[in-house]
Amino acid sequence: MSSTPTRIAHKRSYLMCRPEHFTVSYSINPWMEPSNPTDTAKAVAQWQTLYDAYVALGHDVHLIDPIDGLPDMVYTANGGFIINGTAYGVKFRVDERQGEAQPFMDWFAQYGYDVVPPVEVNEGEGDFLLVGDTILAGTGFRSDGTSHGELATIFDREVVSLTLTDPRFYHLDTAIAVLDPIQGEGGVDHANIAYLPLAFDAASRAILEERYPDAILVSEADGDVFGLNSASDGYNVFISPRAKGFEAQLRERGYNPVLIDLSELLLGGGGIKCCTLELRGRS
Ligand code: ARG
Repeated sequence: MSSTPTRIAHKRSYLMCRPEHFTVSYSINPWMEPSNPTDTAKAVAQWQTLYDAYVALGHDVHLIDPIDGLPDMVYTANGGFIINGTAYGVKFRVDERQGEAQPFMDWFAQYGYDVVPPVEVNEGEGDFLLVGDTILAGTGFRSDGTSHGELATIFDREVVSLTLTDPRFYHLDTAIAVLDPIQGEGGVDHANIAYLPLAFDAASRAILEERYPDAILVSEADGDVFGLNSASDGYNVFISPRAKGFEAQLRERGYNPVLIDLSELLLGGGGIKCCTLELRGRS
């Protein structure tokens, strides 16, 4: 193997929501089973370890107030999609989460973001990932394909549509992890990903193979513990401790896996990335 590249951590700004009202009272993905008990205090404690890890590594973490009756609000990745100070709001496919859309848009407006209310059904950074200068956009379960056109118009960037086919991986951020800094940041001109090939249809797999020949391909076992539902600052990659193979693959490539156990939040069908919305301010 050729020499391992030097990875550089880049400061990130994240939005999180303390899961004070977390429970599983309905089922909108295959992970959620309302008859299984949930432990809100445990969810809060696990969430706090993620918050603390981000802060300890120098990242800014902002908080949005949790709202009683909106147990999925902890998954802030579904609150919007933000680039250069512009926040595209969400329009949930599922009724159970409709009440979150306006509070997130209100938060973005209050903190000075230009808010664009959505026309099309979309679930924010759960389905949209910025890789370099390109937006990878998922559809198949939650966000409508029509939202991809809306995205391209709002952000004036290339949008690549990908179709998810396995209901376990119903949001794009459960099947792809973005590993590297955004294009041009700190002179870095690469942007790589890790993904789970079986989560996509054949056409989408072909696109990913062509665009990301150096991508890390993760195993089904690692995908199934939400190993790909991770955040990265370009060096530190925050992942589930259960994703053993992915952890080794990251180390081989010179990344530093930071292991955070969010097992309680997995009962709602979410992991590290789901609990993290990137706030990309004006550059
Ligand atoms: N229970 C939530 C839902 O089904 C989980 C959301 C996970 N978020 C994510 N970005 N993948 O909507």
